[in-house]
Amino acid sequence: MVARSVIAGVGGYLPKRIVGNDELSRTIDTTDAWIQERTGIKQRHIAGPTETCAFMGARAAAAALANAGCGTEDVDAVILATATPDQAFPASALRVQAELGITRGFGFDVSAACSGFIYALAIADSMVRCGQATGVLVIGSEVYSRIMNWADRGTCVLFGDGAGAVFVRPGTDRDGGRGILSTHLHAQGALGDLLYVDGAVGRPERSGHLVMNGREVFRHAVAKLAAVVDEALAANRLGHADIDWLVPHQANRRIIDAMGRKLDLPSEQVVVTVDRHANTSAASVPLALAEACGDGRIKRGNLVVMEALGGGMTWGSALVRF
Ligand code: COA
Repeated sequence: MVARSVIAGVGGYLPKRIVGNDELSRTIDTTDAWIQERTGIKQRHIAGPTETCAFMGARAAAAALANAGCGTEDVDAVILATATPDQAFPASALRVQAELGITRGFGFDVSAACSGFIYALAIADSMVRCGQATGVLVIGSEVYSRIMNWADRGTCVLFGDGAGAVFVRPGTDRDGGRGILSTHLHAQGALGDLLYVDGAVGRPERSGHLVMNGREVFRHAVAKLAAVVDEALAANRLGHADIDWLVPHQANRRIIDAMGRKLDLPSEQVVVTVDRHANTSAASVPLALAEACGDGRIKRGNLVVMEALGGGMTWGSALVRF
């Protein structure tokens, strides 16, 4: 058993095309002012035809590996969280494995909607600590533009496309107190109808669109996310004052601000990308992480708490010393 696993590198990929709120207001009954006031979103990236789940995941993963100073020979597992895989199978994780030229180990996809990255990180952490893997690419990659009902103003303004990734390896003596301190996962299947995709492979009679009861999801989000962050802190005998950074799921600025208030964190210690990325589901946390590590805000030794909630209903948190 390894005492701890370490996030050794982070990376992200965003599609080239940016769609601002004004562009959406030309085709649906909405305004830039409404979207910004209710969600904080100004724009989102939308994938082009070649920017598939696997393509974007591979770009983010390659960036995370480079950031870790590692190569594909160091990877023996690829775990990819997505609700929008390119195919039902093979897993998009294996398309990434092939694209990057990784020839050993294993890979699979994780389906936990917007909590997918936290779930995938928890699995990677467990596998590394028990010795089943020694170098894991953990990826969140999403093409939600494919499952939007572009005539439904209540949902289509909220989501965007993109991918984020981290590279997880076993901790060593030289890592000191660094590493994934704990992860905490929850699900409540009885709440599945609050947020779901109306469709599946081989069901042409279904619309294939994302359906959401936004008000109810909002109500659950703040309470459940605050509880799962406190659960992570309590498990490590830490308090709100010990947190250096909150890297939350980027669904809505109002949910993020409410979380910051609940944790007594000034807004300067909360990483926000929802204004530019919108909600990229499983990609949102690793994309935010990549941005804040890349621009030097998150530094070695910082205590970072990540959280997410999504369809399922699923939610979870991870506490990580960088
Ligand atoms: N532009 C303009 N008006 C809009 C609109 C849009 N894009 N979307 C909805 N509206 C309208 C509604 O039709 C409604 O009009 P009505 O009062 O005439 O019926 C009004 O705005 C209020 O709608 P409501 O749904 O109550 O707004 P809200 O303040 O709850 O905000 C969300 C809606 C979706 C932004 C908010 O509920 C939310 O963010 N929920 C959480 C979603 C989330 O996080 N999902 C992902 C979780 S992973």
